Amino acid sequence: MMMRKILVIVGLIIAGFVNAQQQAVLQDVKITAIKAGKLIDVENGKTLLNQIILVSHDSIIAIGSNVAIPKNANIIDLSSYTVLPGLIDCHTHITGQPGGDYYADIFRKTPVDVAVTAHIYAKRTLEAGFTTVRDLGAAGFVDIALRNAINNGEIVGPTIYAATMFIGSTGSHGDLNGFSPYLQFNLPKGMSGVANGVEGVREQVRFNVKNGADVIKFGASAGVLSEEESVGAPQYTQEEMNAIVSEAKMWGRKTAAHAHGAEAIKMAVIAGVASVEHGSLVDAEGIALMKAHGTYLVSDVYDDEYILAEYSKLGYPDKIINKEKLVGRLQRENFQKAVEAGVKIAYGTDAGVYPHGWNGKQFKWMTRFGLSPMGAIQAATINAADLIGIKDKVGSIAAGKKADIIAVKINPLEEVTSLENVQFVMKGGVVYKK
Ligand code: ARG
Repeated sequence: MMMRKILVIVGLIIAGFVNAQQQAVLQDVKITAIKAGKLIDVENGKTLLNQIILVSHDSIIAIGSNVAIPKNANIIDLSSYTVLPGLIDCHTHITGQPGGDYYADIFRKTPVDVAVTAHIYAKRTLEAGFTTVRDLGAAGFVDIALRNAINNGEIVGPTIYAATMFIGSTGSHGDLNGFSPYLQFNLPKGMSGVANGVEGVREQVRFNVKNGADVIKFGASAGVLSEEESVGAPQYTQEEMNAIVSEAKMWGRKTAAHAHGAEAIKMAVIAGVASVEHGSLVDAEGIALMKAHGTYLVSDVYDDEYILAEYSKLGYPDKIINKEKLVGRLQRENFQKAVEAGVKIAYGTDAGVYPHGWNGKQFKWMTRFGLSPMGAIQAATINAADLIGIKDKVGSIAAGKKADIIAVKINPLEEVTSLENVQFVMKGGVVYKK
């Protein structure tokens, strides 16, 4: 049945005018009615009580307290739960996670190994309540294969917006550092993501887009979990960053910049990126610049916890652990400063740094460092959808949007850690966890 026809009939139900024939038509359509005891209205920052959500096919067709439930509707009773839009993680690496041996991961694995196990992490992520992710960097186009298989209904996982190759300069966070120069991976052109110079980076953006990238990710500064010396230094020139962003724009893609250092953050913002990832060492000038440009901050404020507790055991060298010690605390303090200054915040965890499925652990840290529980939930729903550019499809529970809906027993506005353990997950009208 046509969506329009359903909407018209639903409109009539709400208005209280449904004749026998229309009632009969409705019985042919599979409609699910969700009874939500509490519902978090992320657009208005409010809690609504006793709402009915009608779902047909993959979409929400009505929501309200006076919505009549059609006869024969399949009823999902969440009247003792708090219902909210499916969560969105704007920074994942859903295709993999550390296997327990740093050197084996680098030297004994190929993207084929990664491809074989990626579906496990996709399922865990969805079951954790994250119905959409923006995946910011994967080798070998495994992210694109995973995205497509999920979209085709072949495997279970969140809706993925994928970056493909992380674009980085020679010797940067995106390159392989610290080993003999005689050791080389003979990758086909473009497959490492390493690109230099205005022409080089433009070509890499084109290569990524040609092969399926929904978003462009590049390294504006050095990083933590890599063996180059610095953590904050810029790794592209202003001209190169400008070229990446303008090339991406030409192809209708937004850009995300990995940036820890204060200088690199400002350069990326000036270049016009949609989001700064990590943002650890942002200074007052950078915060003001982000506000002025409307740049989102996507800061993985949980990860310090996991890295300092686990990464030595996973075989990571001390020089990497020491870099983490340099940025962890500052990242959280600077996150709080950015929140207080009114910088736009979207939820992103760098999932894959920690085990997939733990994506909800960051809520606690965001609320400890400046956000209210509602603010953190908005970061993971409506703001995240805005950053990715999919606000018309997801990010809130509204008629016409995809039926991506989750529920938790404990109200997360009272105890935000309840989002670490989501009890009900619906994505595109299909229930994956109950
Ligand atoms: N992928 C990031 C990097 O290697 C992870 C940073 C994790 N640390 C942190 N404090 N957020 O730079």
